[in-house]
Amino acid sequence: MRVLEIDHPLVAHKLTVLRNRDTHSSVFRQLADELVTLLAYEATRNVAVAPAEIQTPVSPMTGHRLTNPKPMVVPILRAGLGMLDGLTRLLPTAEVGFLGMVRNDETLEVTTYANRLPDDLSGRQCFVLDPMLATGHTLIAAVEYLHERGARDITCVTLLCAPEGLKTMEEQIDPSIDLTIVTAAIDEKLNEKGYIVPGLGDAGDRLFGVV
Ligand code: URA
Repeated sequence: MRVLEIDHPLVAHKLTVLRNRDTHSSVFRQLADELVTLLAYEATRNVAVAPAEIQTPVSPMTGHRLTNPKPMVVPILRAGLGMLDGLTRLLPTAEVGFLGMVRNDETLEVTTYANRLPDDLSGRQCFVLDPMLATGHTLIAAVEYLHERGARDITCVTLLCAPEGLKTMEEQIDPSIDLTIVTAAIDEKLNEKGYIVPGLGDAGDRLFGVV
């Protein structure tokens, strides 16, 4: 498992505004979207391309194009939806599948309540979107789900990670799975309620308003 913490002044700036508890939902959504596009640039560094012959106005040349099968983008409902446009802006031809996962706030156990993905993901590169890697249980379940269906390599894009969750993923995920975590920051710790500290609070609530 590779972990890439993106060190860039614009990432640091946007993340600081997101973390601020006084930032309103509408600004939060806009900044999360922009931040994901910056992370997506790094997350797509190994996206599969193949040589393509084209003709410029001046001469023929060999360029590169995304190959088939196209990448699969998988937002984890609900908070991952707030990251979808930010990623598909750079990969507009990707297909999008959905995984609905919810964490029990007391036991921190994760259950899958919905999925809308092809059964066969053989050879597909998958980009999983979930803003907060806290205990790691949601992303472990998502990565195993995609790997069992044949995904070729899996990149998880997150805004924040807790060191505890990264450690659990490292321990529990089969090391033969080609897995990359791309994040804007690795924070200090998880608190007793499973929130990332200093974190940004409940990402779903801040994106969509408290329900
Ligand atoms: N999920 C969130 O939305 N925030 C946290 O801090 C941890 C998990």
